[in-house]
Amino acid sequence: MNPRGGFNTKLGFILAAAGSAVGLGNIWKFPIEVSEGGGAAFLLMYLFFCFILCFPVIVSEIAIGRKSNRNAIGSFQKLGFKKWSFIGKMGVLTGILILSFYSVVAGWVLGYVFEMIRGNFQIYESFYEYTNNVKYIMLYSFLFMFVTAFIVSKGIADGIEKASKILMPSLIFLMIILIIYALTLPNSLDGIKFYLIPDFSQINLNVAGSALGQAFFSLSLGMGMLITYGSYIDKDNNIVKSAALITLADVGIAFLAGLVIFPFIFSKGLAVEGGPGLIFTTLPQIFESLGETTGVLVGSTFFILLTFAALTSTVSLLEVPVSYVVDEYKISRKLSVWIIAFFIFILGIPSLLSHGEFLFFKNFITYLGSTKPVDFMSFIIHVSNDTLLPLGGFLITIFAAYIWKKENLLEEISIGNNNFKNSFVAKYISFSISFICPLILGSLFLITFLEKFFGISFI
Ligand code: TRP
Repeated sequence: MNPRGGFNTKLGFILAAAGSAVGLGNIWKFPIEVSEGGGAAFLLMYLFFCFILCFPVIVSEIAIGRKSNRNAIGSFQKLGFKKWSFIGKMGVLTGILILSFYSVVAGWVLGYVFEMIRGNFQIYESFYEYTNNVKYIMLYSFLFMFVTAFIVSKGIADGIEKASKILMPSLIFLMIILIIYALTLPNSLDGIKFYLIPDFSQINLNVAGSALGQAFFSLSLGMGMLITYGSYIDKDNNIVKSAALITLADVGIAFLAGLVIFPFIFSKGLAVEGGPGLIFTTLPQIFESLGETTGVLVGSTFFILLTFAALTSTVSLLEVPVSYVVDEYKISRKLSVWIIAFFIFILGIPSLLSHGEFLFFKNFITYLGSTKPVDFMSFIIHVSNDTLLPLGGFLITIFAAYIWKKENLLEEISIGNNNFKNSFVAKYISFSISFICPLILGSLFLITFLEKFFGISFI
């Protein structure tokens, strides 16, 4: 047994990594992007990005982690490239930033579980006031962070693996119940049509860029999450197979989420709203219309499902800095977890205050070329999701292909996968990681960065 601890089973690793991938991004953002991006046309492009472009990055991250047996920063040093550990440092920082706002949104979701149980569907009229009820929201985001920290404090096998083995199957079970129910609603087929009928005219470079960004965020790539989880697996783990299953789970659950959301919306003929409005204001109206008992049942099931999805993601985000501190500073896991979680909770407070009366955070910053001030939470999202993740992904592919070298990458992947070396997949990964991935991820980084912060548009 590895002294750092590790996953007990291959399935445990897959569930934990898929749990990280499946999050608020899948259930809330993905369906909206599909509907705005031309239905099935977007879906096809998304599948292409996940399996063709992101797949080599997933495999590389896992291989770097397993080979080095270290956290996101230490892994670069362990492989002998101390200078390149800045990629890991950037990753740890990105994880901390993402967790700081993600836990605020997860707190809203958790609060909604209780609102639905109480039958308070009217909350859709006061979502704005709800997010402004600072004490209340802070309590929920604190609670969420507390549960996250509790799971991570138990370690890999007894904490993260165990929780994923309970939460992921429960999530799929709840999802299936909701799909069956949603399909029995009137006009549900119109929802499915709206969701899935391809409209290729909607596809342009902008839509392609957001599909790629979404795929990357959804698969939790670009910040060393999979380096960290990969460092806890054994040599007999088939990395290619695990990566394929993780991708499949992520794409599959995002797809299923649309089969819940669109029949719901169309059953009442409501407009499809983008952004937080969709789950926080549109859906409660629909739950209300189902009648008291059914509404409470369906509404709380939906938000419990969302809570589970968010929880396996926040756990993975917290594990990245924790693993670093435990490995490198020899501080106990428990102490590291509680200190880091508390610090990130505090860091999240400006995001928590971004939507209301605290004008300082609401109108936090104005970029060159932006027409109105950007709130603090959106600013953090632009920095982490839109800028640092693609940049991290770009650098990881450069590292894997040219610094560590692709021969070593392929060698590591072939352990636990006998026929790998001469396979088509090996040739593809080798080509893609050297040329396609760096080129496309590098461009994505440059284009979004220049557009977001400087208003320079290329399209
Ligand atoms: N993938 C998660 C989602 O879709 C979010 C997430 C969790 C994440 N861990 C991450 C994103 C690491 C990037 C990196 O909601």
